[in-house]
Amino acid sequence: MTTGEPPPNPFAIGLEMARRAPPVVLVVFGASGDLTSRKLLPSLAAVARRQQLTDSFAVVGVARSELSDEDFRKLAADAVPDAGPEWERAVSGFRYVQGEYGEPATFDRLRQVLEEVDHDRGTQGNRVYYLATVPDQFATVACALGEHGLSRPRKGCFVRLVVEKPYGRDPQSAAALDRAVHTSFDEDQVYRIDHYLGKETVQNVLALRFANAIFEPVWNRRYVDHVQLTVAESIGVGHRGGFYETAGALRDIVQNHVMQVLGLTLLEPPATVDAQGIRDEKVKALRAVEVLSPDEVSTSVVRGQYDRGWVEGQEVAGYRQEEGVAPDSHTETFVAMRLAVDNWRWAGVPIYVRTGKRLPKRVTEVAMAFHRVPHLPFASSLARDLDANSIVVRVQPDEGITMCFGAKVPGPEFRVRTVSMDFSYGASFMEETPDAYERLLLDAMVGDPTLFIRADEVEQSWRIVAPILEAWEEGAAPLARYESGTWGPREANRLIESTGRRWRRP
Ligand code: BG6
Repeated sequence: MTTGEPPPNPFAIGLEMARRAPPVVLVVFGASGDLTSRKLLPSLAAVARRQQLTDSFAVVGVARSELSDEDFRKLAADAVPDAGPEWERAVSGFRYVQGEYGEPATFDRLRQVLEEVDHDRGTQGNRVYYLATVPDQFATVACALGEHGLSRPRKGCFVRLVVEKPYGRDPQSAAALDRAVHTSFDEDQVYRIDHYLGKETVQNVLALRFANAIFEPVWNRRYVDHVQLTVAESIGVGHRGGFYETAGALRDIVQNHVMQVLGLTLLEPPATVDAQGIRDEKVKALRAVEVLSPDEVSTSVVRGQYDRGWVEGQEVAGYRQEEGVAPDSHTETFVAMRLAVDNWRWAGVPIYVRTGKRLPKRVTEVAMAFHRVPHLPFASSLARDLDANSIVVRVQPDEGITMCFGAKVPGPEFRVRTVSMDFSYGASFMEETPDAYERLLLDAMVGDPTLFIRADEVEQSWRIVAPILEAWEEGAAPLARYESGTWGPREANRLIESTGRRWRRP
């Protein structure tokens, strides 16, 4: 442990709003980059506005761009217009260190600046380092922090390392990154980000299951026919074509976001909802997901790439025409697959996953599709419009839960049709839902690792994903094409329809 104090229970009622970061310096590597301006600074400003930062808070930006302290303060102010007086006060103490990540001089300078900030802002030697650089610099920075004596906390202080995704591009590189990180930091200092875990509705899967007597009893193979997890995006790759060419949907979304949401959906009830309880159970659930053989990859995984088409009323280019993308690229922008879970609760329940860019809309949801009733006590012709029951956790954008069940259609006949009952976050809670990064940044500063990924979870998700990548490299599952604005290639429909089921239309 770095502080000696147990982390606060994040689910304790009322605690969330009362949470406040202790005195701390957030050191952002990659400070002049896109993630910093688009996500980190606006999220910090929101945390500041909610009075969850003390005056003993500062950001030290580190990057290669030539910026002065003043330039960086301006960048931080411009990134969040009208953020309010708390942000203005915080920004006035921000500092900037310019340098190469591999150069000792950068870290000597950083040490000096950190001491000055401790003196000027009272940040007491507490540090959270945030790796928001390009991924191939993660190991360099982590090692350099150790070599310069910046990774170990002084007595009574804390030092933590937040690592952005992607965490490796295969099991070997993820393990190599772990080794590099662990030369400088203990595992309990390491906070691996998956911003999906910071989304309120992802956490709501736990509330739904474990705070209610009516759901958990049916959350298993006896009642659930299959599970559908959809992470659909209407956007294309935009200006990230160069990066995306090295990633693809499997690495970009499935290895991290999908596996995390799946872990939370499938896990056994933890004894306690805390960092160890949740993460232990997630690892156990992921460990039970069966690895696909090369033959199974051919039959159970569909990979697709978008062509030109129309999305949300706009004509859009195909993936191969995007900036930074090779004209004959074979990178997948869509994946659909069927997984199996080898444990008591889920044996025989197929898990269908689909994710893609340039689909008709942005929607993330987890749907539990239940078995049909064993017998209908009325003519089946009267139940043509009746689907099996389902519970859908709508992660975004319209956060909430939908239950679909049959109801009698008014009239003289006993006609039954599927209807839905909705719970909507927006309508039920007056509070604004914080952005995932607000929650995660605050958690990292407070020292609560519950919503961060442990090394063994990374290992488990690569165990599932790597054999698919390898089979693809060997030629399994040819790339299918789909028109932008559709729900992916026809092969994805066949994957599920061959078993008499069909994809939900979210
Ligand atoms: C990121 C991926 O991790 O998640 C992006 O790299 C993707 O490609 C994004 O667009 C989706 O996040 P969200 O929060 O918009 O669903």
